[in-house]
Amino acid sequence: MELFLDTANLQQIKEVAEMGIISGVTTNPTLIAKEDPSVSFKQRILEIYQIVGGHVSVEVVSTEKDGMIREAEEIISWFPEATIKIPMTPQGLSAVKELSKREIPTNVTLIFSATQAIAAHQAGATYVSLFLGRLDDIAYDGIAVLNDICEIWDVQGYDSLIIAASIRNPIHIVEAARAGADIATIPYNVLMQSLKNPLTDRGIELFLQDYDKFITERQKSMLI
Ligand code: E4P
Repeated sequence: MELFLDTANLQQIKEVAEMGIISGVTTNPTLIAKEDPSVSFKQRILEIYQIVGGHVSVEVVSTEKDGMIREAEEIISWFPEATIKIPMTPQGLSAVKELSKREIPTNVTLIFSATQAIAAHQAGATYVSLFLGRLDDIAYDGIAVLNDICEIWDVQGYDSLIIAASIRNPIHIVEAARAGADIATIPYNVLMQSLKNPLTDRGIELFLQDYDKFITERQKSMLI
């Protein structure tokens, strides 16, 4: 399973890209709105692309097919590798169909059920994004829906890529990998939390203490 970072924050992307663990970034209007408004949308997206050098999903804000396609064309003119994030609506599906004909990659977002995922695949989506956390928020089992989607993809031999999105905690990452999601897109805090373990910190502390002890003993023995 590949890891994407779910953020529009350049510092966070730089820090995580530096570790070599992410192959892409997903953004959405809410994530963009959290950042410095003096930086234009285009400039932010291009800077994200420069840092990550891989997948960048950029979401449209039009609700009509033609508007979505116009936005997609504009984004593609900034950098042709862009993936266009399209909401899971009838208009969105029509836009995906058209963009897929033109071989423009799409990520269908705001998917909450297996039937929506199947429809997005049939329309020609490159990626289908299931929002696990938001399902859990309303007392539905997000992982159970992801398991269904992964099983259907196996049985049907679908080739669109499944993104586990709206990840809220490290258990979601483990369960998404176990289910067979192709990608998990993870917020910075959750990703950083998932890297930490108190036993690792304690282990380093003990190694350093033991090494100091060794050096002190060695210095003592050289004085004798
Ligand atoms: C996915 O591409 C979305 O940007 C994201 O995962 C939404 O997550 P949220 O429910 O934390 O807003």
